[in-house]
Amino acid sequence: MVPTLKLALVGLLGAAAVQAIPDSVPELDVIATSTLEERASTCTFSGSKGAASAIKSKTSCSTIVLSSVAVPAGTTLDLTGLKKGTTVIFEGETTFGYKEWSGPLVSVSGTDITVKGASGSVLNGDGARWWDGKGTNGGKTKPKFFYAHKMINSKIENISIKNSPVQVFSINGANALTLDGITVNNADGDSKGGHNTDAFDIGSSTGVYITNPIVHNQDDCLAVNSGTDISFTGAQCTGGHGISIGSVGGRSDNAVNKVTIENCTIKNSQNGVRVKTVYGATGSVKGVTYKDITLSGISKYGVVIEQDYKNGSPTGNPTNGVPITGLTLSNVKGTVDSSATNVYILCASGACSGWTWNGVSVKGGKTSSKCKNVPGNAKC
Ligand SMILES: *[C@@H]1O[C@H](CO)[C@@H](O)[C@H](O)[C@H]1NC(C)=O
Ligand SMILES: *[C@@H]1O[C@H](CO)[C@@H](O)[C@H](O)[C@H]1NC(C)=O
Repeated sequence: MVPTLKLALVGLLGAAAVQAIPDSVPELDVIATSTLEERASTCTFSGSKGAASAIKSKTSCSTIVLSSVAVPAGTTLDLTGLKKGTTVIFEGETTFGYKEWSGPLVSVSGTDITVKGASGSVLNGDGARWWDGKGTNGGKTKPKFFYAHKMINSKIENISIKNSPVQVFSINGANALTLDGITVNNADGDSKGGHNTDAFDIGSSTGVYITNPIVHNQDDCLAVNSGTDISFTGAQCTGGHGISIGSVGGRSDNAVNKVTIENCTIKNSQNGVRVKTVYGATGSVKGVTYKDITLSGISKYGVVIEQDYKNGSPTGNPTNGVPITGLTLSNVKGTVDSSATNVYILCASGACSGWTWNGVSVKGGKTSSKCKNVPGNAKC
């Protein structure tokens, strides 16, 4: 588009478009039809009609500001299919009405997308309305929080999530997605029945880079079910089930390849480092590295690697269909409770190989006598 026309459009749209309010949808439609590729509009949506207006106008705005939006019960704040290059900014407190449903509360997809939380902003799930100690295993149907599906070459920054009803970020079909400075604060769930509140679940993605998350929850801090080229660095994980790969197996995609978990602390959690694969299933776990990991207050296992999961529980019988190869643990140290087990490794014969462990020092708990087929220099 020629510069003069662009200038003319900016002049034409002027301050009104910049301050677009939720009910000014007709103006936004004008922007959409008259500028084609050249979109320079910031649209601000707020209050109880903000979600509907944002959903309606989302492809007409280059920047979408969601200012204290109250999302109605049973509605997804649906920001899927955004135009390439869109920025979404959450301001103030975003709230969600109550309904028993599976969600998600928020969904974003697109290419070259930036989603960010303004200073002091929070997406408040008020999960206590659903919590019944059962998570996804029964009781009330609970909405998942945030789908980041099919986000390509995109970023999610400084988003603060409070009290998610159940799982928080579902990352699927992503390619080159960075999540930086995310906070998940589900601390209230510790005493009020929060369950299965995984912070980050990753599947079928290539290139997911999570940096400096701060998490307090009641399930995995990270769970990678499938995907390639994933990093999780500078995490502070409290209260949950640890930093996990798996369970791998039994889904449509069962390959995990090249995952680096580095410079993370895991405290007051059931497990520290965890890799689990599914009994009788097929797939692969290759090239997973845990480096510079500090554990404290671990109640079950400091390090647990097992190939025997079925229906979410260990069977004690490992199978070899999902080999775990090239597992590196370097400088993994810390303490577990006296009733916990320091390290537990349950591999099927020949199904764990090429492991490199150095500087693994987990203390304070029991030494397992049930380890099987422990490869390389790993030790229980
Ligand atoms: C995220 O928050 C940090 C710390 O408050 C700040 O330095 C950084 O600029 C923020 N990033 C964005 C994209 O707003
Ligand atoms: C390690 O993670 C912490 C956050 O927990 C961060 O402040 C620090 O800069 C990181 N260190 C390195 C060497 O990356």
